[in-house]
Amino acid sequence: MSAVLKNATPREPIGSVAPAPTVISFRNVAKAFTVKGVAKQASHSINVDIQQGQVVTIVGPSGCGKSTLLNMVAGLFAPTEGQVLYGGQPVKGINGRTGYMTQSDHLLPWRDVAGNIA
Ligand SMILES: Nc1ncnc2c1ncn2[C@@H]1O[C@H](COP(=O)(O)OP(=O)(O)OP(=O)(O)O)[C@@H](O)[C@H]1O
Ligand SMILES: [Mg+2]
Repeated sequence: MSAVLKNATPREPIGSVAPAPTVISFRNVAKAFTVKGVAKQASHSINVDIQQGQVVTIVGPSGCGKSTLLNMVAGLFAPTEGQVLYGGQPVKGINGRTGYMTQSDHLLPWRDVAGNIA
């Protein structure tokens, strides 16, 4: 014998929380650089949403375009195609709402992370 619950409504699992808002979105993003007349594709077909509080690692070989993605979020480069959104708005020019620390050769080794960002 089995019991049947009529008019039961789906419920959130106990302990579930509302999803955090999306902070960064890449929408069909591509970036090409033209050096001495030769175009080079640094990234293409990037589609990803990053939620508030999420820790994200971008992994790939040297030159595959990791820093280029960060540079576009910071507004240092504009995408060649697609859009980078920050807080739901397209990044246009320098994005002052980001704190962005670049690779070691750009850092001041005598300062900590917060000091380098400042
Ligand atoms: N300002 C620029 N002008 C021309 N080409 C560029 C520029 N910035 C990046 N590139 C080229 O775009 C590609 C991706 O570079 P990027 O710095 O994003 O790679 P990366 O994945 O961060 O590499 P690494 O692991 O060495 O830091 C490379 O071929 C690089 O030479
Ligand atoms: Mg890099």
